[in-house]
Amino acid sequence: MSKRDLMNPGLNDMAVDEFRKYGHEFIDWLADYIENIEKYPVLSKSEPGDIKNSLPDHPPKEGEDIDSILSDVNGKLMPGITHWNHPNFMAYFNSTSSGPGILAELLSAGFNANGMAWHTCPSATELEETMAEWYKKMLNLPEDYWGVIYDTASTSSLHAIAAAREQLSHLNIREKGMPGRKELPRLRIYSSQQAHLSIDKAAITLGFGLEAVRRIPVDSDYRMKPAALKEAIENDKKDGWLPCCVVATVGTTSTTSVDDVDAIGTICRNEKIWMHVDAAYAGTAAILPQMQWIFNGIENADSLVVNPHKWMFTPFDYSFFFTRKPEVLKRAFSVSAEYFDKSKSDVINYMDYGMQQGRRFRSLKMWFIIRYFGVEGIKNRIAEHLRLANEFAVWIDSHPAFERMAPTPFSVVCFCAHPKNIDDKNELNALNKKLLEEINNTGKLFLSGTTLNGKFVIRIAISSIRTTEANVNNAKQLIEQKLNELTMNFTN
Ligand SMILES: Cc1ncc(COP(=O)(O)O)c(C=O)c1O
Repeated sequence: MSKRDLMNPGLNDMAVDEFRKYGHEFIDWLADYIENIEKYPVLSKSEPGDIKNSLPDHPPKEGEDIDSILSDVNGKLMPGITHWNHPNFMAYFNSTSSGPGILAELLSAGFNANGMAWHTCPSATELEETMAEWYKKMLNLPEDYWGVIYDTASTSSLHAIAAAREQLSHLNIREKGMPGRKELPRLRIYSSQQAHLSIDKAAITLGFGLEAVRRIPVDSDYRMKPAALKEAIENDKKDGWLPCCVVATVGTTSTTSVDDVDAIGTICRNEKIWMHVDAAYAGTAAILPQMQWIFNGIENADSLVVNPHKWMFTPFDYSFFFTRKPEVLKRAFSVSAEYFDKSKSDVINYMDYGMQQGRRFRSLKMWFIIRYFGVEGIKNRIAEHLRLANEFAVWIDSHPAFERMAPTPFSVVCFCAHPKNIDDKNELNALNKKLLEEINNTGKLFLSGTTLNGKFVIRIAISSIRTTEANVNNAKQLIEQKLNELTMNFTN
């Protein structure tokens, strides 16, 4: 008999005493991990296949004890972990967790409640409703917005586009579908050239096809040109397309540029086109009164996505989707089945508002986070990230060997090395790619890159709850040091 069976004979779950013992040890393990996180290389140094090759080909026949599983977490998985909670993780949009968020996740797994319908967990449903109201107030969103939690912004935007299609109710796509219908006009989705790839994925998934996504040009600050949108809509209508949805982005992925929600909203309202706003990363900044301009004109939008998992210290995943037309979303997704009783009136069955039936108890972690830090605490942290990013931008602007590549409205700075003696675009691109690689190879800092107008650009994102001024100063030093080393040796 294995050690595990001795502690827990029979066919039941892990014995409660054992669960208690390891529960305490796990929290200690996690506390040590977070306390010592800077000892790990922020970006995993594993090579492809390293982790898989360290794991057995076959599952164990007999159960094993938690000690030996945890020892493999340490020995086998840790080398392949990229530490998203590391204060020097400044790549992409950094999703960091927080103490209260992690504890709430544990509770959520403990309850294992599935909030698909009201009666399957009234607390999950009603806490989700309450969090929608709280978040709306925090971001100063219009009263008539109604919220639902999905996993990611990709899912939220997909639901926005599905609702936009449902709004064209005369097409009866819900019943008849799209394929093979010769009478159906081709439906168009508009987004800027800088919009996130999730819009393309939604177009593929929903059967619009990639050709349906029309990318509108941007201005020199990477914002969608409203006049070009208007012209595209007019031309499309002449060519037999039916405009279905416009996606404006507040905080684009590469540069965090902010589309003019107000001007785009006016066009959408006049044309009766669904307007969706993707504020996946930047939306939480509206918690600060001085940042509320980002949502000027939001009352004209039909839907909005903001991800607390991107910039509100919420363990992945958590995306808040708001719409002024929940009835259209419901019409798009609600179906009934004999085996499912939804007869109670005056309650929300969230499964009616999305493609998933089963739903995690996600609202719990937002409830813990907002209550633990308080609105003021969250505001202070977001404001500090904005301050640190601004300081970094000032440093870049004053540095003779670096150049800022885009405005910095939030906490992401786009820059590139541009030493005085190098002006060739290809040479600069090669230098900056190499610089990023060298920085990331140190394991001390993790940054990401993008391309703007053919130029390779480095991005630094300062949105981790654990990032301090000291981390940003160390980042500056490392970037400068690596550039010095490279320009001394750089031969392309
Ligand atoms: C503007 C924007 N929208 C959507 C997404 C997709 O987010 P998710 O990973 O939650 O699907 C991202 C991801 O970075 C993003 O930057």
